[in-house]
Amino acid sequence: MKHLSIALAGVALIATAGLSQAADLAAGKAVWEKVNCASCHGADGKTAVDPAYPILAGQHADFLAHALKAYQRGAAGVAPTANVRKNAIMGAFATQLSATDIANVSAWLASQPGPLAVRK
Ligand code: HEC
Repeated sequence: MKHLSIALAGVALIATAGLSQAADLAAGKAVWEKVNCASCHGADGKTAVDPAYPILAGQHADFLAHALKAYQRGAAGVAPTANVRKNAIMGAFATQLSATDIANVSAWLASQPGPLAVRK
């Protein structure tokens, strides 16, 4: 039992270290500006040029990262499943991002104030 607790504590430490390492907010903002995501989603990630475009500011980072990876899979021609998004626009932009870019830009967007909330 003691061994199990020590092993679990180790796993938790590694998981936390992995997360904090991935989230470089300044680098995420730089990705946002370099790839010009703002030209559609708005500089603040919530004032999109078209009201049909999704609000990203304040969205959960893991959801955003999952969406971006799903666009990459869609652009790569992976057969459609729940983890694949086929979208010509976002496919073209997501393919320009590395895994690190995705982690950073998702963390930066999640840290921005936005109107998204869980209704209670
Ligand atoms: C040319 C306009 C355009 C640009 C530039 C653009 N996007 Fe998008 N984005 C869209 C549209 C349109 C959608 C909705 C696509 C769909 O229906 O799946 C979208 C969807 C998304 C989603 C999914 C959000 C959700 O709630 O499902 C994420 C995340 C995202 N964009 C991030 C980015 C990032 C990061 C960049 C820059 C690398 C970027 N976008 C650049 C138009 C754009």
